[in-house]
Amino acid sequence: MPTTIVFSSEKGGVGKTTSAVNLATAFAVGGYRVLLIDMDPQGSVRFSFGIKGPIAKGTLQLLTEPKTPLTALMQSSAEHGMDYVFSNIDTIAAERLVDAQVQRPDTLKGRLAREGGAYDFIILDAPASTGTLALNALTAADLVILPLQCESLAIKSLKRFLSAFKEMQVKYNPHLRVAGILLTMYDRSIEVHRRISRQLYDTLYDAVFATIIPKSKEVTEASALGQSVISYNINSVGATAYIRLAKEILDRYGLRPELAVS
Ligand SMILES: Nc1ncnc2c1ncn2[C@@H]1O[C@H](COP(=O)(O)OP(=O)(O)OP(=O)(O)O)[C@@H](O)[C@H]1O
Ligand SMILES: [Mg+2]
Repeated sequence: MPTTIVFSSEKGGVGKTTSAVNLATAFAVGGYRVLLIDMDPQGSVRFSFGIKGPIAKGTLQLLTEPKTPLTALMQSSAEHGMDYVFSNIDTIAAERLVDAQVQRPDTLKGRLAREGGAYDFIILDAPASTGTLALNALTAADLVILPLQCESLAIKSLKRFLSAFKEMQVKYNPHLRVAGILLTMYDRSIEVHRRISRQLYDTLYDAVFATIIPKSKEVTEASALGQSVISYNINSVGATAYIRLAKEILDRYGLRPELAVS
């Protein structure tokens, strides 16, 4: 049975895609079988892997064509050691098609239950919205990770998210757990970052991952080159942080410790 992890946040630009891509890569490097699915119409996951052209089959068909097998919609990368389903919901028309055809919040969950059994981890990159795609991602997941930047509005937006999350959890997916809040793009030379992170650890304790993702030039460089920071430079602070996050998740949930990332 795979563990399905979704990256979600109310706010945009907080590091969801970067974290989804790098956590998936960290698990793949550790020998786990990983499927990464882009549930965001922006389609940023494919850009993170340097793929610029249009995607013929992807998330659109995953949600709207139950008879097309998952294997026909995904791409496999020997280099990155994982499979992906890229988002091809690029147009308003495609988004409308999803809204019109995907009537059930558990459409993705059903597909993954039928066809995702070969994976150890399924990682979902969700959009910063509350529409059909985000709801399908949250309904399909076992664990949600909430990336957060230590900025003044972050705590307010986190509180709003958590109250909406509770409603969603009761209604659609009582099984879903918050794996943790992940501090991203952290710069310890910035006083606000230090203050807000302290406040979060003091009030939420281990609901905040011990692993902090620092702001780093290698993450920016890797993303410009269409690579995960782990593929770009495995010894960089960004790569090390994401590998540490993978280990923290494995430890927290007792997931296959015999295969733990070294
Ligand atoms: N640790 C980091 N250090 C430096 N830059 C980072 C880091 N993490 C993310 N970024 C950069 O910040 C920007 C936003 O990150 P990302 O796209 O992952 O956020 P997102 O939450 O997925 O955004 P959206 O809500 O638009 O989908 C990107 O340009 C990314 O390269
Ligand atoms: Mg994104």
